[in-house]
Amino acid sequence: MKKLALGILGSGKGSNCRAILEQISIGKLEAEARLVVSDVFDAGILDIAREFGVANVYLPPGKFRTRLEPNVEMELVRLLKEAGVELVVLAGFMRLLKEPMLEAYPGRIINIHPSLLPKFPGIESWKQALAAGEKVTGCSVHYVDAGIDSGEIITQRKVPVLPGDTAESLHARIQAAERGLYPEVIARFCEA
Ligand code: GRF
Repeated sequence: MKKLALGILGSGKGSNCRAILEQISIGKLEAEARLVVSDVFDAGILDIAREFGVANVYLPPGKFRTRLEPNVEMELVRLLKEAGVELVVLAGFMRLLKEPMLEAYPGRIINIHPSLLPKFPGIESWKQALAAGEKVTGCSVHYVDAGIDSGEIITQRKVPVLPGDTAESLHARIQAAERGLYPEVIARFCEA
């Protein structure tokens, strides 16, 4: 069976990327990670790619803070296409994607977000959930559009907010749920 070619984009430590690469390496996920890209030179996600022997690249993002410079985003498309990537997986990628990527990969870019969207988009969602007194929060996998965590939701997993939770303990519980959920969702794309 042909394996689904993944491109993984991230800006941070890469725990979701690790979970995906682990599931691939033990044969539970019929996918192949072709390329890991980061906009942060020393991001842990690049070390993880190297650890698993996956091609990886640091892409200097240019002068904007919340998105890639258009020529950089076009270069990103070129790199992903050259690597044969079929599904783009955002794993802690902290920039909005614009036309070059959205037009190159329509319906083929997914993201994981640490809340039950549409509640608490944006940054540090677990802190928002805690401050709002939620009893249940969770994580969502969604298609990526031009907005902030606004694309169509694919699936969600609930996580309880426990008495005495701190931002750190809640975040850790959500991230553990993410590491289970994301490879499962990617597996569905492999079957499609
Ligand atoms: C995850 O919590 C994800 O929900 C959010 O960014 C975080 C990335 O963490 N989009 P990691 O780099 O995968 O550890």
